[in-house]
This record gives sequence, structure tokens and C-alpha cells, in this order.
Amino acid sequence: MRKSVLTTVAIAGAALLALSGCSTRTAAGGDSGSNSGLKAGSIIGVSLPDKTSENWVLAGQLFTDAITKAGYKADVQYAPATGTAAGQADQVSSMNTKGAKVLIIGAYDGKQLGSQVATAHANGAKVIAYDRIIQNTKNVDYYVAYNNEKVGELQGQALLDGMKARYPDKMKYNIELFSGSATDPNAAVFFDGAMKILQPKIADGTVTVVSGQTKITQTATPDWKPENAQTRMDALLAANYSSTELDGVLSPNDTLGRAIITSIKAAGKATPVMPVVTGQDSEAASIPLIMSGEQYSTINKDTAKLVAQAISMINDIAKGNKASTNSPATNNGAVDVPTFYLAPVLVTKDNAAQSYANNPTLLALVKK
Ligand code: BGC
Repeated sequence: MRKSVLTTVAIAGAALLALSGCSTRTAAGGDSGSNSGLKAGSIIGVSLPDKTSENWVLAGQLFTDAITKAGYKADVQYAPATGTAAGQADQVSSMNTKGAKVLIIGAYDGKQLGSQVATAHANGAKVIAYDRIIQNTKNVDYYVAYNNEKVGELQGQALLDGMKARYPDKMKYNIELFSGSATDPNAAVFFDGAMKILQPKIADGTVTVVSGQTKITQTATPDWKPENAQTRMDALLAANYSSTELDGVLSPNDTLGRAIITSIKAAGKATPVMPVVTGQDSEAASIPLIMSGEQYSTINKDTAKLVAQAISMINDIAKGNKASTNSPATNNGAVDVPTFYLAPVLVTKDNAAQSYANNPTLLALVKK
């Protein structure tokens, strides 16, 4: 088991390194390029926000294995379920105290780790923002993530394409919108990406958000928790759809998508036609729903590749080099953070087998 995970990371890492040789450029700023004192046995701290989505659980395991294999000491921690922002800040502080030379942080709240990363920099450590940018601080060296705006665009387009295919006789569609946690900077980027695609269709009357709730303050799902999405979907259906058909729901990820589907079914709105529900993350529990048509789409953001890219940044840092980046820098409110973006892929029933060809677990679910 352990061996196969390592092999996946190694293969993904090798593939990325091969790719990066021909397409990357060197970081323009943020990192002094100086050696962070990273050497065999140094502590690398990995601080992850929660376990509400499968990707974070997998990332923890992959980081532990890959950091250990590279000869460093892994200190991988998840923020506590309650008092999460303060709890994560305390965990990062303790990594600083232990002398971590690199911090890899998936922030629960992108705005609340300023003083911890300042301490890391004061200690000479490097800071890599993983998946979520750390905001309003100059003390972030790199950002590595899947292209979040692109994720949102793919979701918005999938919603439109899915409704067109599922309702060949309709010219107009009724939808509802969901976004993620207000503490997660990605939530707004996903939502803005999707609205870039959906807003023109709302403006020309093709698409109606029946509840009228189109602002991110209205669509947000506290803490990315499925129970919060389900409660909101229940309320939206009860208030707006007693005699109106619902055709689609923009769901920002799979965990919330499944909760939304549960609510739609409980309200008797899954028949005669199941509304189109989007997602993200390629979670194992959503693959059967995609194959049965209950969930229309997801996004493939292979966690092994993202972890491998973060490890490749660490390898660059260990050599005293700037890490490779491949995208315009991400402004975090204080500085432009050198960024490496991987490309997200939209997955529907039609391309699932092809998309998961290298992932035996997901492929088995596709073929079931
Ligand atoms: C990640 C998504 C994930 C969400 C909830 C986001 O920051 O990019 O992949 O679904 O957090 O955990």
C-alpha cells in the first residue's frame, strides 16, 4: 500500500520534472534564492486545513511518505475541527519552534497566518502556499495549486452543457448557485470563474437563479460542510420550487454536490429528470453518481501530482535555487507570489475512463 503510493508520487514527480524542463521559467521574485538551511533530517512542516474533502486526507499521507523518502523529517498536521483558524495558527507556531526549514501550508483561513509565516521567514525558513494562497502577507515564497479560476470556468460551462444535453426541449433553465467557505480564498475564485461563464446567460434570460441568490455572501457554505449545503438546498427548494422545475445546481465540489443531490432527492425533485449538479475533486464517493448520471460532472485535480510539484519545489530550495514556476504570479493582497499552476480537467461520464486511466481505484469505480 505504502509502496504503491510512493510509486505514484515518484512517477507523477518524474513526469512533472520532465515536463517542467521544457515549459517552466524561473521564479521572478519572493524567494531570495538563498539556501534555507535545508539538509537531510531537517523538519518540513505540512499544515492542512481539515479532512472534509478526500484530497486533504490523501495529501497528508502523500506528503508524509514523499518527505520521508526525500530524507527529511515530516511534521504533517491537520487543523483541529473546532477553533480551526486559531488551532492551525498554533500548529504552525509549534512547527516554527521545532525549527522547520520549510512550511507547506493549506490554509483554513487564508488571512489568519500572517504572524506565523513572518516568524518562519525571520527564522530563515521558506513558505509554500499549497492549494490555497496565504493572503495579505509578504512572507510567502511560492504558491502551488490547480488553476482555480479555470476550475470555476469548467464548472460553469459543465452546468450549461449538461442542461443543454439533459433537456433537449428547453431553451431556458432554472438554477441555483453554491460556493465554498468564505474563509477559503479559493471559494471566491471558483465562484468568479463560474460566474464569468454563467452571468452572460443570466443577463440574456437563458438562465434564471430562481431564488435570486447570486451574491457570494448568499451562496457561501460555511466551512465547506455538506450539512450546511444540504440545509440551504432544502430551504431553497421549499421556498422556490413547489411548482417550479429545478434544472441545475452549481456545486463547487463533490462533497457539497452529494449533499445537494441528497436534498434534491428528498424533496422529490430528482424526477422525472435529475437536475444537473456539478462538482470538483474526483472523490471516490462521487464516481458512481457520475456514472449513474445523478452527479453530472467533477474536476480531476490529481493530488499526487500537486504534492509531487510541492516536493519538486523543496528539491529546488534544497539546492539553493529558486523553485520553478510556470504561471503569472498570484497577488495575495500584499505581494505577487511566484506560482506553479497545474491544469484541472473536467470529467463527465463520457471521459471518466480516460481521465482516471492512471488511477486504479477510480478506474475500478468507473468500470463497476
Ligand atoms: C480545494 C478544493 C476542495 C475545497 C474543500 C479548496 O480549497 O481547492 O479542492 O474541494 O477546498 O476542501
